[in-house]
Amino acid sequence: MDGNGRWAAERGLPRAEGHRRGVEALRRTVRAAGDLGISVLTIFSFSAENWSRPASEISDLMGLLRRFIRNDLAELHQANVRVRIIGERDDLDRDIRRLLVEAEDLTRGNDGLTLVVAFNYGARQEIAQAARRIAVEVAQGRLQAEAVSPELFSRYLHAPDIPDPDLIIRTSGEQRLSNFLLWQAAYSELIFVPINWPDFDRAALENAIAEYRRRERRFGGLMVAETGS
Ligand code: IPE
Ligand code: MG
Repeated sequence: MDGNGRWAAERGLPRAEGHRRGVEALRRTVRAAGDLGISVLTIFSFSAENWSRPASEISDLMGLLRRFIRNDLAELHQANVRVRIIGERDDLDRDIRRLLVEAEDLTRGNDGLTLVVAFNYGARQEIAQAARRIAVEVAQGRLQAEAVSPELFSRYLHAPDIPDPDLIIRTSGEQRLSNFLLWQAAYSELIFVPINWPDFDRAALENAIAEYRRRERRFGGLMVAETGS
């Protein structure tokens, strides 16, 4: 979700207004994803690197997360959405940590859309913590170094049961991953849309999915026509 600040600047509005409108785009997108039968939607809400922003903007973003969970959790639960959180929780305020646990606990039994909220998330940090935990197990003799395969490694990531993303959409025209799901994105299709996040809507999501469907995914293999099957 990128481009909140630019959306606001283009209108002579404060960045906070861009973030507020960004939450509205998020509500639309979650609803649309549920309607379209998407099983998992992961949103990059706050990156481990976003702490370098001015304190007032960090506080705006934390406030929006608090309000999003307080105001929208009941509705998400009603809509059978299961909420999961990935990221480093220890650096977050205690009340936010509590809200995150509350959101996960309340919606644990839901089997509609899974909404994965990446908050204080960084892919390199996630990979490093996995390596650290594996190293401890090897050092304690509970795991053989030879057993460390990509499949095993994946089990030490934040949400090992969530499948790798088929499609990653980045808004605002920037064309990079910015430390998002680096391990899981190995074979994801990447789509960069020129619109700023507050303008993202159902039509934009449907367009991205239509483009995804036109892509041919080979996973390092051959095109279907070349296999003769
Ligand atoms: C994305 O919009 C929102 C978050 C990082 C939470 P930005 O704040 O990055 O907006 P730009 O990139 O300055 O336009
Ligand atoms: Mg940005």
